[in-house]
Amino acid sequence: MKDLSPKRADLDPIEIASRDEIEALQFHRMKRSLKHAFENSPFYRKRFIEADVHPEELKTLADIAKFPFTTKQDLRDTYPFGMFAVPRSKLVRVHGSSGTTGKPTVVGYTAADIDHWSNLIARSIRAAGGRPGDMLHNAYGYGLFTGGLGAHYGAERLGCTVVPISGGMTERQVTLINDFRPDIIMVTPSYMLSILDEFRRQGLDPRQSSLSVGIFGAEPWTNAMRQEIEEAFDMHAVDIYGLSEVMGPGVAQECVETKDGLHIWEDHFYPEIINPTTGEVLPDGEMGELVFTTLTKEGLPMVRYRTRDLTRLLPGTARSMRRIEKITGRSDDMIILRGVNVFPTQIEEQILKCAGLAPHFQIELTRSGRMDNMTVHVECTQDMVAADARMKSAKELAHHIKSIVGVTTKIEVCDPNAIARSEGKAKRVIDNRPRE
Ligand code: DLL
Repeated sequence: MKDLSPKRADLDPIEIASRDEIEALQFHRMKRSLKHAFENSPFYRKRFIEADVHPEELKTLADIAKFPFTTKQDLRDTYPFGMFAVPRSKLVRVHGSSGTTGKPTVVGYTAADIDHWSNLIARSIRAAGGRPGDMLHNAYGYGLFTGGLGAHYGAERLGCTVVPISGGMTERQVTLINDFRPDIIMVTPSYMLSILDEFRRQGLDPRQSSLSVGIFGAEPWTNAMRQEIEEAFDMHAVDIYGLSEVMGPGVAQECVETKDGLHIWEDHFYPEIINPTTGEVLPDGEMGELVFTTLTKEGLPMVRYRTRDLTRLLPGTARSMRRIEKITGRSDDMIILRGVNVFPTQIEEQILKCAGLAPHFQIELTRSGRMDNMTVHVECTQDMVAADARMKSAKELAHHIKSIVGVTTKIEVCDPNAIARSEGKAKRVIDNRPRE
């Protein structure tokens, strides 16, 4: 793989500034942002008054802990436009994330918000190894989802040639990758696997493709999956993180030279890790729920937004800004099986250890009597379809899951292509337990 480390001279100076400089900027921006929220968003004004706290009380960055949390429920309760801190006419765009209730949660951006977002995506693509002049195949979905348009504007800002293909029509994705010869692909890791299958179906060698970097996010994925994709395509695979409520993709990005977790772009987002049960702020290094306060957003400032994502804060390496460890999962996706906490990423890791299995899987939860049961449906690889090979793989996987994750599972090894493919975020858990 090519060395794609960016030159230090090409970075934004703040990316490699001292911690003191970064914190001074954060404090200045946090104060301004809290004041903006208090003065211009009736929602926040009411919240702060109820919590008996005023922006003037912020004397240090740690004082943010005095302010109340914001949750997805707040966005639902104020649907569609109730949390904004500018008149609707000042928004140049809205996005939304699909909710379980059918109504999306709506977020909005001023022109200045879109400008910051574009700069941060440009910074993220550069950290991933991209350069002006590169061609970028953008297979994140365009629409209310922030992935497509967010990546698009940032790639243009960096000076890339964007192919705005969006998700879906996998055969055409492969045709265009072969004909246009892009350097970079942006897509969910699970959809990248479908693109990989399509390369093979068409008899093409993915290692001969033009791609040198993949920027994968929007869903949890493991280092084992990184290795799988890097080997299959002979390309770098790096992680991009974000969420619509806080901005969209580009809140944090992994650097190609270290691949050791994602640097939070701390000049725009202030992170905290809290105990998800008590709300107490935890020291760096401890595992908990990630919380963000936005420092520059105008349209929809977020104060202590609870992401539900579980990770920990680590010191900077390739950049001075702190990192988050690769996200294990969301607290909402955590399966509690007979007292043991299980995340789909842990299952993915074990599947990738078994030679006869492909990384396409779904976890089904059922209940017999008072017992919850977990079945892992996973595909076998093309060369391991024979019944005895499948049985061996199933036994091996059950053993790994039992000894490393600590739960007993049923394994169903199915035919290649039997598991439904996603064109965006994969659905990993099917819960067939009766509702209480
Ligand atoms: O998924 C934004 C995005 C688009 C990020 C493209 C990266 C690439 P939402 O649809 O609002 O926004 O979903 C946000 O997705 O809270 C995480 O649970 C999950 N997520 C996003 N990126 C990652 C990642 C976009 N790199 C939710 N690793 C977040 C693990 C991720 N989970």
